[in-house]
Amino acid sequence: MLVTDKKTQVRRHLIALDHEYVAAAGRVTKFDLVVDHAKNATVWDVDQNRYIDFLASASAVNVGHGNAHVVQAIQDQAAKLVHYISGYFYHEPAIQLAKRLALLAPGRSAKKVSFSTSGSEAAEGIIKFARSYTKRPIVITFQNSWHGTTLGAASLSAIDPNMHRGIGPLVPDIYHLPFPDPQKIISGESLTHFSNRYLNELQDLFKHDIPADQVAAILIEPIQGDAGIIMPPQAYMHGLYQLCHENGILFCTDEINQGFGRSGKMWSIDHFNLEPDLMAVGKSLASGMPLSAVIGKAAIMDALASPANATTTAANPICCAASLATLDEIQNLHLVERSRELGAFAKIQFLKLQQEFPIIKQVRMIGLNGGIEFAPNQAEFVTQLSEYCFEHGLIIISTMDHILRFQPPLVITKTELMAGIQIIRQALQQLS
Ligand SMILES: Cc1ncc(COP(=O)(O)O)c(C=O)c1O
Repeated sequence: MLVTDKKTQVRRHLIALDHEYVAAAGRVTKFDLVVDHAKNATVWDVDQNRYIDFLASASAVNVGHGNAHVVQAIQDQAAKLVHYISGYFYHEPAIQLAKRLALLAPGRSAKKVSFSTSGSEAAEGIIKFARSYTKRPIVITFQNSWHGTTLGAASLSAIDPNMHRGIGPLVPDIYHLPFPDPQKIISGESLTHFSNRYLNELQDLFKHDIPADQVAAILIEPIQGDAGIIMPPQAYMHGLYQLCHENGILFCTDEINQGFGRSGKMWSIDHFNLEPDLMAVGKSLASGMPLSAVIGKAAIMDALASPANATTTAANPICCAASLATLDEIQNLHLVERSRELGAFAKIQFLKLQQEFPIIKQVRMIGLNGGIEFAPNQAEFVTQLSEYCFEHGLIIISTMDHILRFQPPLVITKTELMAGIQIIRQALQQLS
């Protein structure tokens, strides 16, 4: 399937140029893949080596690489209008997309949409809409959350101190709570007790540190993505929602990583049947084209005055056309159901792998969306494992250093899934 020596001149040359001219801050290098082209769940590098993709460009191409309907929409729109600033005038792709997203968002309240280009900007938008509506300054997020790297989004995030190092002062009045990771359940503790223990952290904060009436919003990833696909208990999420509403705090969610069918539901918050006041979307929204949005209850969205969330390239018509086509494909190819069903299949395969190789500590799978966890002191092993996979035709990276992140395009076939898992099996055999 692969040529053995992938360290060709072309790749070496391009990577050397990158290291000379591209700043390291924008890179989280995993291995030396120089992507050339891709189709569905297959990626080719510049040396024409082929890889099965278990990453989907960080969950940004749920409908698959080079999806024909999306590509056609991009080409048609590019031929018609590449860009006109949507803050000044109107264009149809943005209007149609706003309507579609408003209707697709969870819950029954009327919604409005504000577009931007990156997930980070959308997360940051939540700070602005929430502060403006509530007239309160404080925003609470969670440890191990990734909300992005613009200054506001970096301030919201709390997964890696390098995201804060040397760039402060950060946006003030942002607090981070411990995330209720069910792995932290104490032996014998019930889910309710565990949830209450974590909810008490918030109540203690209100009691001793910050007045609840100064909190504008609590922003949560209903399933933490970069932390390794971690889902809090129902009791926690419902308790959090209730505490928000009792205290006039907006309940906000980040669906940038987990939205658009990734978790086996359209939105990860659908696992909890809760309606967020505001939510941030990006990544697979437009199949990786630079588009993101805040979607929120209309009254909240109307509270931020013009031009506080206008940018020149937001709602670019090509991106909006790509997004409309992406939403068509999610529907027409039944990708939400596919994510759920293939995810269940993949879970069985990874559990078999765990039986064979007890070095795998835990298999979490929610939709086609998994965290394959090793012990924290196995970080070096997991790096070698993903390197081996890369050398043998599979893209799978680690997150939190010791967890394999499994997020293939939702169009991946069972045969490709099995072939990819077989490469992981070989890696485990070779390296264990
Ligand atoms: C949950 C979540 N929120 C926000 C972001 C930031 O999105 P972007 O990288 O497009 O700025 C990410 C990116 O990985 C993410 O996973």
